[in-house]
Amino acid sequence: MIKNNQELEDMKRAGFIVAKIHQRAQEISKPGVSLLKINELAKEYIKKYGGKSLFLNYEGYPAYVCTSVNSEVIHGIPRDYKLKEGDFYTLDVGVSYNGMCVDAAAIITVGKIEEKTKKLLKATKEALNNAIKIVKPGATLGDIGYEISSTAAKYGYNVSNEYVGHFIGKNMHEDPLVLNEGKKGEGFKLKEGMTFCIEPIFIDGDEDLFVDPLDKWTVRTKHGENAAHIEHTILVTKTGWEILDKL
Ligand code: MF3
Ligand code: CO
Repeated sequence: MIKNNQELEDMKRAGFIVAKIHQRAQEISKPGVSLLKINELAKEYIKKYGGKSLFLNYEGYPAYVCTSVNSEVIHGIPRDYKLKEGDFYTLDVGVSYNGMCVDAAAIITVGKIEEKTKKLLKATKEALNNAIKIVKPGATLGDIGYEISSTAAKYGYNVSNEYVGHFIGKNMHEDPLVLNEGKKGEGFKLKEGMTFCIEPIFIDGDEDLFVDPLDKWTVRTKHGENAAHIEHTILVTKTGWEILDKL
């Protein structure tokens, strides 16, 4: 569970690839661009930088990334949907390098975004930042969950606890889970060298979700409310934290 230097170097390399894909996707996500183009971009970058997609063929998943648009919550399969002005989507990317995994999701916006949507995206990003900021040896998973749920409460959003964060390393999903709610000082204690994913999901309304029966992957809100998901892979350092999916 504690990573050695070589493992961390490999994770940083995987994280670089993920961050490159996020950066380029934001640049090219203009009205009229198809989600299939975003999947192609990921395929191309993963190959170019010598990584492996963690998502392709994962339990039969058919693409390199997940693209979840507007009221799609997570696990949206890239399809020939042309992005429209005012859309936002979560681009979830998992890459391994030399066997070490990084998993991160960025919110990509298309043109001018409505005020109501801006507020949801801001709150979701703030929750992730608040949770990351308190990471250090001795902090607990309860502390992280508390930061996420209290940020949601502050803005009046619901949090999903059906889909949550996780530890990561040689595998994309490792124990324990990293919940989006918790009590300060409770739960698993963090140690230097641990790596895990924090992934708040905020819903602008009722938190009832369902998996689309047509594609068996896309998680949607029951009543069509917007939802936002964001994720970073974090390393616990001697004095705090480091984001591993960065350029
Ligand atoms: N990032 C997602 C997670 O943390 C993984 C995507 S699921 C896949 O669970 F099927 F697309 F791989
Ligand atoms: Co994840």
